[in-house]
Amino acid sequence: MVEKLLSAAVAAPSIHNTQSWRFRLLPDSRTFEVRAVPRRSLRQIDPNGRALHVSVGAAVFNLRTAVREFGWEPVVRLLPRPAEPALLAAVRLAGPARGGRSSDRALYDAIWRRHSSRLPFSPRPVPPEQLTELAEGAHAEGALLQIPDGDEAHRLLALTAEAEHRNTADPDRRDESRRWIRPPQDGPLGLPAEALGPQDARGRLPAAVFEPQPTLAVLSTAHDRRADWLRAGQALQRILLLATADGLRASLLHQALEWPDLRWELRDPEAGPGHVQMLIRLGYGPAGADSPRLAPVEVLESPAGA
Ligand SMILES: Cc1cc2nc3c(=O)[nH]c(=O)nc-3n(C[C@H](O)[C@H](O)[C@H](O)COP(=O)(O)O)c2cc1C
Repeated sequence: MVEKLLSAAVAAPSIHNTQSWRFRLLPDSRTFEVRAVPRRSLRQIDPNGRALHVSVGAAVFNLRTAVREFGWEPVVRLLPRPAEPALLAAVRLAGPARGGRSSDRALYDAIWRRHSSRLPFSPRPVPPEQLTELAEGAHAEGALLQIPDGDEAHRLLALTAEAEHRNTADPDRRDESRRWIRPPQDGPLGLPAEALGPQDARGRLPAAVFEPQPTLAVLSTAHDRRADWLRAGQALQRILLLATADGLRASLLHQALEWPDLRWELRDPEAGPGHVQMLIRLGYGPAGADSPRLAPVEVLESPAGA
């Protein structure tokens, strides 16, 4: 069971597939501790670790979902020991899982099928009731998901294009990004070129949006502390799994979040305060390619002193 739980956790998305997470099982308290791996953080692109926390939050959501699938109730504490900043979450397997097994089962199944799809989507619109379901999923995790109208979507894409332009012009960020594009035979970390889609053939990182009327979703939180980033990651993963279960594909457009001024501009001024945590592109289309993952044994560490 431990192996399956960890396989589920590491199937989560992470920025540049850095998989900056490690797990420790405390058998006496039936608790998984989830820690960051600082040496795999992106110092240029993500200097304050926000994207790392979002990634780890997504892995925590998968772990929660898998724990329920195995019949336990997951009890999550975020940042449980402030004196230990690398300890991002603790997930305790409490008594038997309560209610809702069939919807959980759909999410659990989606863990293994979800991949980022950076390929063109079909013109088929996403039904409003599916978008409502995703927004409810975000809300259940303490986050907000908004669907911008056409003009607003194009404004957000223009900010993304501006960020992409800056990223390419900045040698440090460009080098850091390129270091994470690796052939799968080089190991289980980083992005294989095949996963990046058509844009990358021209030597650029993927912010490709091919649809004339793209469906975008903006994920935000009321505050912007470390716990909010972890909540945003859990909300993101709930949205992505719900979308996968509904037959939708998704890719993430994070570029504009990597520049404080552009991230601020991503906010919908009409929608009141809030901090944007992710831009998600949704639609129907081909599945994305697999990206490699660390094996469960590679992310499981022994308890201190064991
Ligand atoms: C915080 C975060 C930021 C990401 N930013 C981008 C991005 O800007 N562009 C992109 O195409 N994918 C982005 N991704 C997706 C990752 O590249 C992807 O999850 C990872 O390579 C694993 O592949 P998979 O999603 O197919 O499992 C991001 C993921 C996370 C969690």
